[in-house]
Amino acid sequence: MMREGFGSRTGAILALAGSAVGLGNLWRFPYLVGENGGAAFILLYIIFTLFICIPLFTAEFIVGRRSQSNTFVAYSKISGNSGWKWAGAFTVLIPTIVISYYSVIGGWSVAYFFKACSFGFTNVDQTVLNGLFSDLVSSTWTPIIGHTIFMAATALIVAMGIKKGIEIFSKIMMPLLFIMVLAIAAYSLFLPGASEGVEYLLRPDFSKINAESCIAALGQSFFSLSLGFGIIMTYASYVSKQESVIFQSLATSVSDSSFAIIAGLAIMPAVFAFGLEPGAGPGLVFQTLPYIFSQMPMGGIIAIIFFAALLIAALTSSISLCEVVVAVISEEMKMSRKKAVAIVFAIVWSLGILCSLSFGPLSDVKILGLTFFDLFDKISANILMPLGGLLVTIFVGWKMKKSDVYDEFTNSGTLDASKKIFGVCYFIVRYLAPLAIITIFITSLI
Ligand code: PHE
Repeated sequence: MMREGFGSRTGAILALAGSAVGLGNLWRFPYLVGENGGAAFILLYIIFTLFICIPLFTAEFIVGRRSQSNTFVAYSKISGNSGWKWAGAFTVLIPTIVISYYSVIGGWSVAYFFKACSFGFTNVDQTVLNGLFSDLVSSTWTPIIGHTIFMAATALIVAMGIKKGIEIFSKIMMPLLFIMVLAIAAYSLFLPGASEGVEYLLRPDFSKINAESCIAALGQSFFSLSLGFGIIMTYASYVSKQESVIFQSLATSVSDSSFAIIAGLAIMPAVFAFGLEPGAGPGLVFQTLPYIFSQMPMGGIIAIIFFAALLIAALTSSISLCEVVVAVISEEMKMSRKKAVAIVFAIVWSLGILCSLSFGPLSDVKILGLTFFDLFDKISANILMPLGGLLVTIFVGWKMKKSDVYDEFTNSGTLDASKKIFGVCYFIVRYLAPLAIITIFITSLI
C-alpha cells in the first residue's frame, strides 16, 4: 500500500513547526531568557540551535526520509540489520509516555479556555485564582474530563490522516497561532510599565552566562525542537524526496525561535506592568496570567485569545506525539489508521488518568519517590529524550554509510548549498552533538 505523505512544502513545515511550538515556548522560554541574561541568553540559544540542534534535526530527518518508514523499522531498514529494531521500539516508547502527561496539561488548558470563554477571569483576586488552579488539579473529575476532551481532539485529527488531518489542521492553526500571539504582544507592549518587562527579557547581561545557563540554553533548544522523540523522523518520512533537508530544518527552527521570542514579548511586559514576579511553568500560565487578565482593560478578550493559543500550541504538539505511535501500530500490525488511533487513545487515556490523579486522590502513590506525573515527566525529559537523541547521532554519525547520509542530505548531490555545509553538519552529528547530549544527560542527573 502506498504511504500517505504531506501534500506541500508549507504543509510539512507548518506541521513540524506545530510540534516544535508548544508549552516550552510559552511557559519556559520567556522565563529562562529573563533569568539568564536576556539578549545574551538568546544569543547563546541561537548559537546552540544553529550549531548543535539544527544538525541534529537534519540527522533525525534523514533517518525518517531515507527509510520512508515509521520509527520502529526505520533504523533496521536503513542498516539492513533487524537488530536495530530495539532502537525503534525504544523510540516509540518515548512519545507514548510523554503524551500521557502532556495531555493532562492539555486538559487543564481546555478547562481554562472554557473558563475564559465564560469571562471567568474578570474581577477576581489573586487568592481566588490560586485556589482555582489548585482546586482544579487536585479534583478528580474536571481534569479527567479536560484530558479526555484534549485526547479526543488529538485522536480525531490524527485519525483523519496526514493530509486531511495533520496537514490541514497545522496549515490553519499555525498562522492563526502566530497572529494571536502577535496581537497579545502588540497589546501588552503598550501597557504602562511594559518597558520593564522588555528590559527583563532583552537587556543583554553577559555576566549571567555560565555553565548552567549554557546547559539551560542547549536543553531548551533540544526540547523545543522536539528532538529525540521520533517525531521528526516520523514527519520526515512523509516529506517528499524533492525537499531540501536543511531548508525544512531551518524553517522549522526559525518559526520555533521567533514564536518563543514573540511569546516572551506577549507575556513579560504584562507581568511587569502589573508589578508581578515572573516565573515559569504552570504557575505563570495558570495563576499569574489569569490575574493579569482579570485586572487589565479588555482582559476578558485577551484571556480567550491566550488560552485558545495555549490550546492550539499544545494540540499541534500532541498530534505529533500521537502520530509517531499511530504510524507504528497501523503499519506494523497492518490495521487501519482509525483502529490504530483507537488503540493509542485507549493506552494514553488510561495512563493519562494516572497522571491526572497524581495531584489529587493518587498523590500519595509514589514510585521512586515520585507521583506518576512527575515520574513520567522526569523519566522522559531526563533519560529517554537524551537517549533517543543520542541514538540518532550514533546511527547517522557512526552506523550509516557516509555516502548515504550525503545522498539524503544533498538530494543525490543536486543541492549546491547543502553540499557546501554537509561536512560541517556531519562533523557535528558525529562528534559535537553526542558530546552535548551526554553533557545535558549527566548534568540533569546530578
Ligand atoms: N516542542 C514542544 C515545546 O516546545 C515540546 C514537545 C516536545 C512537544 C516533544 C511534543 C513532543 O513545548
